[in-house]
Amino acid sequence: MTLAEPLDYAELVCELVTRRQQVSPKRLTDPGPSPAQQAMLWKAAAQAPDHGLILPWRFVQVSAAAREQLGEAFVQALIERDPQATAAQLEDARAKAARAPFLALAISRTGDDGHAEIPMAERLVSLGCALQNMLLMAQAQGFGAGLVSGQAMDSAALRTTFGLASNEKAICFIVIGTVGKAKASRVRPSAANFVTTL
Ligand SMILES: Cc1cc2nc3c(=O)[nH]c(=O)nc-3n(C[C@H](O)[C@H](O)[C@H](O)COP(=O)(O)O)c2cc1C
Repeated sequence: MTLAEPLDYAELVCELVTRRQQVSPKRLTDPGPSPAQQAMLWKAAAQAPDHGLILPWRFVQVSAAAREQLGEAFVQALIERDPQATAAQLEDARAKAARAPFLALAISRTGDDGHAEIPMAERLVSLGCALQNMLLMAQAQGFGAGLVSGQAMDSAALRTTFGLASNEKAICFIVIGTVGKAKASRVRPSAANFVTTL
């Protein structure tokens, strides 16, 4: 497939985009992307548009060895917002760290970096594009993928664990892995729902 075959190329991309859907971490099992596939995922992220070329985001990949540490951060995050959390709730929070073979935290730089001309909204759009590129690449590699956020994102425990600077914000995790059984896709909005003409 080359760019000299625009129709086939468009059809391929359309197929890829159309097949993408959220897969929750619970449904993602081994194997995850190999080191070579992970390199492709990061390459896809780097293709995101970036106004001013300021690279306003970064990712922290969570290795297998760090899952326990992440589990403890989820536990501490829950205690921060609910000191009355039960033992079962704390164990649920801890278990979330073990899900999905590929797990990375997407972090946005919010400002205070000498680029006041690039507002937060544009920084988030850039990160969103990087995430979508990764989701589509994962799809092309035959994996399922999804985004997960939740209340732990703004917790002190998570911020400390991931070494977030004061001008950084945790946005969501991206999770990638093998999906056993596909689920039905949701009904998508039609263009009429979100496009008007000036
Ligand atoms: C920034 C961001 C954070 C998200 N966090 C969660 C989450 O915590 N839990 C969840 O189930 N889905 C999360 N999602 C995924 C959406 O729920 C999902 O995209 C939506 O249900 C539409 O499904 P689709 O991706 O298959 O189109 C998140 C999506 C985005 C963009």
